[in-house]
Amino acid sequence: MLQRPRGTRDFLPEEMKQRREIEGILRERVERFGYGEVVTPTFEHLELFTMKSGEGIVQELYAFEDKGGRALALRPEVTAAVLRMYVNEARMLAKPLRWYYLTNCFRYERPQKGRYREFWQFGIEQIGADSPLADAEVIVVADDLLRGAGISFELHVGHLAPMKHLLGAVDGTEQRRVMACLDKRDFAGAKACLAEQGRDSLAEDLIALAGCRSLPEIFEISGPIPEQSRIEQMFQYLDASGVPYVVNFGIARGLDYYTGMVFEGFAENLGAENQVIGGGSYRLAHLFGGEDVPSCGFAIGFDRVMVARGGVPLEKPLTVGIVSLGRGRLQAFNAARAFRDAGIRTEVELAEKGIGAQLAHASRTADFVALIGEQEVERGTVTLKNLLSGEQRECLLAEAVLEVKAFGSR
Ligand code: HAM
Repeated sequence: MLQRPRGTRDFLPEEMKQRREIEGILRERVERFGYGEVVTPTFEHLELFTMKSGEGIVQELYAFEDKGGRALALRPEVTAAVLRMYVNEARMLAKPLRWYYLTNCFRYERPQKGRYREFWQFGIEQIGADSPLADAEVIVVADDLLRGAGISFELHVGHLAPMKHLLGAVDGTEQRRVMACLDKRDFAGAKACLAEQGRDSLAEDLIALAGCRSLPEIFEISGPIPEQSRIEQMFQYLDASGVPYVVNFGIARGLDYYTGMVFEGFAENLGAENQVIGGGSYRLAHLFGGEDVPSCGFAIGFDRVMVARGGVPLEKPLTVGIVSLGRGRLQAFNAARAFRDAGIRTEVELAEKGIGAQLAHASRTADFVALIGEQEVERGTVTLKNLLSGEQRECLLAEAVLEVKAFGSR
């Protein structure tokens, strides 16, 4: 049997319905903040992703050459593409721009629970605002959306400045290696990197920084840094907004473009892959030929949100099953249309089976059955059976529609 590619998934109607419902909630909420939707291509020039991160990233990508010999890649994330689009199309628009997206991304990773090779991100990018208030807004939006999605989560908020300040004297490539270790909370790895550089004493400060949960103590460890008052202001805005958070200056973020505020969110029920959101402030536009524009954003791992929600049921819509026999079969679609026009989900029994088999099937999928047999055709009626209460009556089609509708709005 031919199977789907590793790390991809199929979605059946029941699951798609839940995904669309949560998607709808996220869209509605983000639009309330003034964000508008954007779409970028599924594939981009490979260069877009290697420019900042280097050639090493290629092994994590679905990169390929097209028939014209162009080096392309399926998008592993959306931020770079959105900033490329901003430089190409929107440099002249009034800023700040508030954009959002929901789209599939592709990473060549080792699949496991919550980690796929094709997955969906719901993200925002706020382009051209550079203030503590702008950073705080992004976190406020994140909190609003994740709450709307109905999951339990914890947001960890930090800033790269103290960590970078401590690592100031360490060479750029080594700095990245140490930050990658700290990001994974691999303190032994960070220690080993720093020891190689003869900077053992730094390790303790960095580990203390990662474990520290209070702002004044952070600045005690880092010593005076120019960003201090900006960082303090952002946290003041967050406190005033009422959004709960954990101070975490051990966050280094895996992607290479972050410059200031960084944050991540973790949810329950997810096992090892419990990070449902990641983001921060960054600069990318200048790499793509634009002016250096400060930006800030995040991406929610939509699939992880769905896993974290687990079985929290959504309201199931009322369903009518149309069962018909003999001349009644000619009426089936017309009757179904009357129910659907009234906003009621309706399925017509398609198998040309006897009444018993049709009813048995409808009882598994529907809440009401509308039966149209020879007798109903003669009298211009339907027989409506409420499968939840067992009540049954013969009435005009219009009356049946009204009855189901009234039942649904109880
Ligand atoms: P990221 O942390 O690489 O950030 O990804 C964001 C979220 O996507 C993660 O927190 C995770 O929930 C989800 N995710 C990542 N990889 C996978 C995977 N293989 N399977 C399922 N879910 C996954 C970014 O991508 C940045 N572009 C976020 C950003 C936007 N920063 C600024 N603006």
